Amino acid sequence: MSHRSIDSTRLLGRIAELGAIGRDAEGRLVRLAASDSEKLGRDRFISWLEEAGLEVAVDRIGNIFGIWNGMGGGEKPIMIGSHIDTVINAGIYDGCYGVLAGLEVIQTLKDEGFEPSRPIVVAAFTNEEGVRYAPDMIGSLVYSGGLDVAEALETVGTDGTVLGDELARIGYAGSHAPGFMIPHAYVELHIEQGPVLERQGVPVGAVENLQGISWQKVTIDGDANHAGTTPISMRRDAGYAAARVITFLRDRAKASNTPTVATVGCIAFEPNAINVIPSRATFTVDLRDPDEDRLQEEENALAAFLELLSAEEGVGVSVERLARFEPVKFDQSIVHLIEVAARDRGLACKRMTSGAGHDAQMIARIAPGAMIFVPSRGGISHNPKEFTSDTDLVAGANILLDVVCGLATGELPR
Ligand code: GLV
Ligand code: MN
Ligand code: MN
Repeated sequence: MSHRSIDSTRLLGRIAELGAIGRDAEGRLVRLAASDSEKLGRDRFISWLEEAGLEVAVDRIGNIFGIWNGMGGGEKPIMIGSHIDTVINAGIYDGCYGVLAGLEVIQTLKDEGFEPSRPIVVAAFTNEEGVRYAPDMIGSLVYSGGLDVAEALETVGTDGTVLGDELARIGYAGSHAPGFMIPHAYVELHIEQGPVLERQGVPVGAVENLQGISWQKVTIDGDANHAGTTPISMRRDAGYAAARVITFLRDRAKASNTPTVATVGCIAFEPNAINVIPSRATFTVDLRDPDEDRLQEEENALAAFLELLSAEEGVGVSVERLARFEPVKFDQSIVHLIEVAARDRGLACKRMTSGAGHDAQMIARIAPGAMIFVPSRGGISHNPKEFTSDTDLVAGANILLDVVCGLATGELPR
């Protein structure tokens, strides 16, 4: 059976080129949402959309769309999306691969005169990572109606900036109302960012669900005092209390024998001095679980532990919720379409759960969707060592091509 193929040189070249944009003085990739460096990435992406002859649209939350109307203007589009913002000191594949593969699929189909029955759109959603603004996936969340755009634009970032101001400053406060195109179907291609596919020697993952995410910011207040003169029994040590929360979360997750994961990724002490007992500790908690009841149990257990800690250590504790997303089940027929596409290309495929958050989980609120994963070497991501082989990247993009063709011609296997 002969298959059409994407242009692998063009795709891999663009991944490398986008990966070179937004490097800081130390050479680290830091393309935080709506920053100057992200603007450069956005500009380059738009130049490629224009080069491919796509109509470019930007909505009020800064999501970028490249629209190929084909023969099917007026119909609901097939949307392929992901993000081009990054974490701090990122790899080059997270998000960018899915966006650039989406463009590549459209360009391939367009070049060969394919006639889709409906428009095909590639989307780059704003602030998927959530490093600068919480919640993460804010662009796709707003797009799918989960958060009011005016409220989202007022979000204050970790650096004190306001998302709406920053989007306006970099020229990406668009005019389209978020949700202006409701997709017929949504597909997102992404690196796995975990070890499962590589360990099992499977090149393609058909992602059937995505775990729930709970982000909280905890502030613990104690008393600053002299590190040399204050007996341990007389301390209200916010730093020590924070450390107890970190070990509580880790020990609980480890002992649970469930897929629950817990991470404290940010922490700050005040006054942050070697010989002063911390008066304040502020830290984040990232809790995830594919099961909603279990995720709630973990949240409740943390809340109970914080109460106990407050009593035992005499510290004040306050909690702010930064993000909360329930687990998502993707569309079975699209998951099956991915499996069929892999089988037809002679590639092993595994149904799996996504451990990471993705725009697909937001768009699933308004359209049937699913995700395709390719292996991540060593399961490493959110790290410059993030790597997927060219062979796997190209294979994944070709699966995306087949799935989009299947959706565009209405040939959904049942
Ligand atoms: C996004 O990358 C997330 O899962 O935190
Ligand atoms: Mn991502
Ligand atoms: Mn990420």
